[in-house]
Amino acid sequence: MIVGLLRSRVTATCVLPQSIQARCTLMVSAAVLVCLALTGVCLTMAIRQVAEAALYDDIEAVAARWAAEAREGRPPRTIPVTARVDHIQIVDAQGLVLAASRTVVGLPPLTGLRPTVRDRVRETTARRPDGRLLLLTAVRVSPGAGSRYVYAGLAEPPVLAGHRLELVMAALAVPILLLAPRAIASVVGCTLHPVEAIRARMREIGGRTLNLRVPVPPGDDEIARLARAVNEMLSRVERAVTQQRRFAYDAAHELRGPIAGLRAVLEDALAEPGAGDPALTYRRALSSELEAIVDDLLVLAQLRKGDPAPPEQVDLGALASQVAAARPSRPPIRVGLPPCAWVRGSRVQLARVVENLLANAQRHARSRVELVVANADGHTMLSVTDDGVGIAPQDRERVFERFTRLPDARRRDPSGSGLGLAISREIAEAHRGTLRVEDSPVGARFVLRLPGAVASPCRNARRRSEAC
Ligand SMILES: Nc1ncnc2c1ncn2[C@@H]1O[C@H](COP(=O)(O)OP(=O)(O)O)[C@@H](O)[C@H]1O
Ligand SMILES: [Mg+2]
Repeated sequence: MIVGLLRSRVTATCVLPQSIQARCTLMVSAAVLVCLALTGVCLTMAIRQVAEAALYDDIEAVAARWAAEAREGRPPRTIPVTARVDHIQIVDAQGLVLAASRTVVGLPPLTGLRPTVRDRVRETTARRPDGRLLLLTAVRVSPGAGSRYVYAGLAEPPVLAGHRLELVMAALAVPILLLAPRAIASVVGCTLHPVEAIRARMREIGGRTLNLRVPVPPGDDEIARLARAVNEMLSRVERAVTQQRRFAYDAAHELRGPIAGLRAVLEDALAEPGAGDPALTYRRALSSELEAIVDDLLVLAQLRKGDPAPPEQVDLGALASQVAAARPSRPPIRVGLPPCAWVRGSRVQLARVVENLLANAQRHARSRVELVVANADGHTMLSVTDDGVGIAPQDRERVFERFTRLPDARRRDPSGSGLGLAISREIAEAHRGTLRVEDSPVGARFVLRLPGAVASPCRNARRRSEAC
């Protein structure tokens, strides 16, 4: 059955034209043809019925008049004809024609119909000797057994005879049938014109012309909405490509420094072979700066791939405390933790965020760093505050951009990559959280907020605050 369906689909696709305009024109024209045919049939039947009803009204009036004449006196043998009802006969109970109009003189009764007392007026049809159809009404003159009968009628008008009426209707439909496909084709063509313009523009858009946008037709129909959606998508693609290009440029730019250093060390060593300690030369050549940048670039690329972090229940307080404990003790990190702070996510990635925030804070702090984890409104919050120079409001978003390092940081630690906060924010967002710089009376305060996880109760109540 499925094969049959597929086959019929394929056949339908092959039979129908490829262009939407042609398909719509074909299908709407077919629908117009069917509608016209149905309307024509109904209209013809209605016209026929109305016309015949009017004719039978006239015939019945004449028949009733001659039935009254027959009842009241002796009608003339030759019945005078005044109206278009020109076939009139008065017949006795035995079928003998007693009187007739000139058109039917000498003819046998027009019909054998004998209306009953209860149904004294009857309509019928009969064939004339020349083959034409007669519309007839038979009227019973009196209720008695020997009643006479009046037959009155007229030949069917030429317009109703045969299929003339149908032919007239068909002739009227021909211009509609000829004009309809053209009108439909031009309406569909106008409707689809913007699609053609969009298609033409999309062919122009490539890697170097991502700034182009497709034309949006006026109004808010499906095509206008499609064009707007395409333009929004193009804006997103352009933004992403620009970011990628900038990233490649920045990465190359940042790698140039360490590579130049590496080259200088190697050139010195080659200029004076055996002059220095080879182990020291190796160590200087393989600078940790180069390694840090490459490591961070790798992490960022992995995060960008969008692989979901393996979900685990992580006690953010316990994790932060472990990371803080592993850090150098100067300047000291003061830790404030709740009994437990469950979040869902990757332990390794979250540890990387805490590690980076603490490393930055220790680098900039004058005397101390404060690490606080708290639960609030279904969220878990982790803040790292130091008492350093802080970050000016205009730089608070910039520091999350890749390779951004403020002058103070470069002076304190030339080996940083400027990627730590960009990575940390990516991790926070991958965990459906946020990472921001917030106001603080002194120094810088970084706040990580993650959705809290409903988890098992706290395994062991931890101390509320401690100094590492
Ligand atoms: N606690 C802080 N106090 C002042 N400036 C900071 C602090 N943390 C980060 N910054 C600024 O943000 C920049 C980016 O930080 P990050 O992305 O971690 O790179 P890196 O640590 O390699 O410099 C730092 O170079 C520094 O200028
Ligand atoms: Mg850092």
